Amino acid sequence: MAIREIVPYTDKFIRKQSKPVSVFDDKLAELLDDMWETLLSVNGAGLSAVQVGVLKRVFILNINNMRIEFVNPTIIKKSGEQCKEEGCLSVAGQYNYVKRPQCVTVVAYDRFGNKFTLTCEDWTAVCVCHECDHLDGILFIDKICEPPKGER
Ligand code: NI
Repeated sequence: MAIREIVPYTDKFIRKQSKPVSVFDDKLAELLDDMWETLLSVNGAGLSAVQVGVLKRVFILNINNMRIEFVNPTIIKKSGEQCKEEGCLSVAGQYNYVKRPQCVTVVAYDRFGNKFTLTCEDWTAVCVCHECDHLDGILFIDKICEPPKGER
């Protein structure tokens, strides 16, 4: 395993479209292992492959000691709305409010190619949406909104 360098938002690479994974092989496993080592080294909540320079539709989440790998994720259902403060390992030191669905259902594959469906809400839903955006070259700084009343 190896810690990989994180691509900053100032690098145009971060805006590229990631491509679906078609082969669930050792190379994919190595990418995921390296992403875990990278994410845990900075105590982050989520990391997409594009952020370590690989244009594959892959991201990982580390939330409340729950570690999940998503390959070829698709959000199939969204409901409600929430506005929370987000940050990003590619946008060091910046935090802004972003509007997201309160609840999302995502279909994805694990590293072995097994399909799964996950419905999540609150902060986990924020993270799923944030990471899915990365796979399409979208950053949270593209979606900044006003903080909800009562905050700030
Ligand atoms: Ni991010």
